[in-house]
Amino acid sequence: MLFTLLLVLVFWFLHYQWKRRHLYHHASKIPGSRGWPIVGNLFQFTGDSDETHDKILRYLDACKDISKAWMGPTLVCGIVKPEYLAKCFMSPSTTARLYFDRKVTDFLGQGLLTAPIPVWKRHRKIIHPFFSDKIINRFVEVFGRQSITLGEQLEKYLGQKNVDIFEIVRNCTLDISFETMLGVQLNVQQGESELGRWTDRLLEIMFLRLFNFWYQYDFIFKWTKLHKENQLLLKKYQRYLEEIIGKKGKVVKSEFVVLLDFLLDLSSSGTKITTEEILDEVKTFVIGSFDTTALLSCFTITMLGMHPDVQNRVYEEVLTVLGPERTPDYQDLPSLKYTELVLKETLRLFPPSPCLERLVLDDLPLDGGTVSLNHSVLNCFFRRYNASKGFGGYAGGTPCPSKYRILAGPSTNRHPFTYMPFSAGPMNCIGRKYGIMSTKTIIAILIRKFKFRTEYKTVDDIKLGAKLILRPRDGFKCSFDLR
Ligand code: HEM
Repeated sequence: MLFTLLLVLVFWFLHYQWKRRHLYHHASKIPGSRGWPIVGNLFQFTGDSDETHDKILRYLDACKDISKAWMGPTLVCGIVKPEYLAKCFMSPSTTARLYFDRKVTDFLGQGLLTAPIPVWKRHRKIIHPFFSDKIINRFVEVFGRQSITLGEQLEKYLGQKNVDIFEIVRNCTLDISFETMLGVQLNVQQGESELGRWTDRLLEIMFLRLFNFWYQYDFIFKWTKLHKENQLLLKKYQRYLEEIIGKKGKVVKSEFVVLLDFLLDLSSSGTKITTEEILDEVKTFVIGSFDTTALLSCFTITMLGMHPDVQNRVYEEVLTVLGPERTPDYQDLPSLKYTELVLKETLRLFPPSPCLERLVLDDLPLDGGTVSLNHSVLNCFFRRYNASKGFGGYAGGTPCPSKYRILAGPSTNRHPFTYMPFSAGPMNCIGRKYGIMSTKTIIAILIRKFKFRTEYKTVDDIKLGAKLILRPRDGFKCSFDLR
């Protein structure tokens, strides 16, 4: 009996290995260590979120153009070379986000970030028109009103040093997200909300699951404390959103079209999207928007504090376009050209979503080697010190890529895939324009009220960590003077 079982197991194992022979063949051509049997290189990344972040960086530092790591049975390729990235992100064979798909589904369900490909295709097509100028231009009034409240909140910290502004700014972007996506005025800025903190922790747990051996497998994860915490947070999150959406009837009808109404209207007029899918999308868009725009705003304020000459130029531009008092409307925003370059340079150094990945579904030849069937492509932007030619994005392949410098536009001699903070290809960021418009408005309102300062002296002083989203490990250390 035991012998038969052993025979079946051996047969199954050989059959499994035979089916994966192409994968092993292609993997053998990609530099990188083979790791341990079964678990591969998973131990290499184990630790808390900061340790894991550092270990990934070290792994990528050793990677020249492309490097492999086995995360259990999954082959993950860290890709640095822009030409390879272009092939991966533009190819029809690279599609779903493999890990996201598996590890986040209970959190964001069938929203764009996590939906299986057929659902993603259908939803992306349905949602695309929502991000037309006609609809998002109307949000600028919300961006402006909430930014004024943010200015009032920050005023409470005048005279203080080392203020970690993240939660304060994030409350503003949370209010903006809820108002434009759900049509609900949360007023977190004036009160308290745990939503931000829950999101932080949920994203951290996800990050830990991606790179830690213990948490990779559901049957192990299920028995951990982290799983319990994860489930509790998910429940709280769900209840919170349902309560808010339930209250929506009592809220003043929006002057503009919000995502929730846009999708509900489409659904009632026969478009194929269920109420459950709509809720998943609304959750996805809230999560996708408020943390990223808060981070971009906070890193920009920090960079302006560190570079008074750049801050002065932004201030002058805002005064020229808006004068001393006026809140911007959508027609003003394109005129804030220098401010936009400042945001883009900040995104080069501090991309809020530094870690992207794709599943490659077919043979995808890259030069001599081949990234093949069921390879997951992992691309990390937080390698801004990459010395490879052309890297440095807006700094145009500078030998000193951590220097903050505002050029008149992207360098002509850099490869377009050296700079992609909003990702690229069909699964790129759908909220890119909204993100730039809202952050521009926040900066334009705040800079006429405050002079920013920071205790950080150089870009390199800011030690970064990741909870899926990029963070300064020691917080944002800012201070303000009234102008
Ligand atoms: C500074 C602001 C932002 C940055 C840096 C950013 C970055 C990104 C990146 C890098 C991706 C691509 C992930 C990938 O290729 O796998 C992405 C996707 C996405 N972003 Fe953003 N984002 C920002 C703002 C926003 C805003 C404001 C919204 C919503 C209003 C949003 C909603 C989304 C959604 C729904 C996706 C998934 C798109 C899809 O798969 O079709 N993002 N974002």
